[in-house]
Amino acid sequence: MQLPSLQTPRLHIRPFQTDDITAVHAYTSNPSVMEYVPPHAMSWQQTQDFVAEQQGPEAQALAIVHQQDHRLIGHIIFHAWFAPRTYELGWVIHPDYQRQGYASEAAHAILSHAFTTLQAHRVIATCQPENTASYRIMEKLGMRREAHFRQCIHRGGDYWWDEYFYAILATEWSAQS
Ligand SMILES: CC(C)(COP(=O)(O)OP(=O)(O)OC[C@H]1O[C@@H](n2cnc3c(N)ncnc32)[C@H](O)[C@@H]1OP(=O)(O)O)[C@@H](O)C(=O)NCCC(=O)NCCS
Repeated sequence: MQLPSLQTPRLHIRPFQTDDITAVHAYTSNPSVMEYVPPHAMSWQQTQDFVAEQQGPEAQALAIVHQQDHRLIGHIIFHAWFAPRTYELGWVIHPDYQRQGYASEAAHAILSHAFTTLQAHRVIATCQPENTASYRIMEKLGMRREAHFRQCIHRGGDYWWDEYFYAILATEWSAQS
């Protein structure tokens, strides 16, 4: 899927570049940022591989650049999901830039692109119930909680994670826009 380049009032959302690796590793190496994001805290090599993958045909994420600071502050995951015109969204923001509405701003721009330019039918997102910030974004975007899966993700030994599943339909997006 061809990933877009989008402007919002404060952000530039664009495909990754090779010289993004240092800025990306500043947050992908942080275990608390990556607690709920597979493959969790990344080595330098894993970050290099991630940025390289995002520049190829299998790209699934876009860089979020702060327009005023000219700094890469996170990324937004956006890729086709298991049905026609259906996509999945996700987000990661550097701790220095969290709680300032940046993930919500980026996610809103991507949802708008999905429903207006790509004629999406449905967009979904998932998170762990402990990840309040993540499901608050989903709810602010107008996504509905469709499921609470119990102990569906194996974290090792007897330890399992629950998962919330959210979605929004094109009809719901246009009714609120
Ligand atoms: C989830 C994440 C991307 C949110 O980014 P952000 O830019 O801080 O989000 P926003 O500022 O747009 O805030 C969204 C909502 O979450 C709330 N929020 C943000 N951080 C929060 C926190 N730590 N605890 C509780 N609520 C939080 C905000 O108050 C806001 O809700 P409100 O408008 O009702 O006040 C960021 O916390 C992050 O990178 N987390 C680690 C990676 C991750 O877990 N990604 C999601 C995997 S499913």
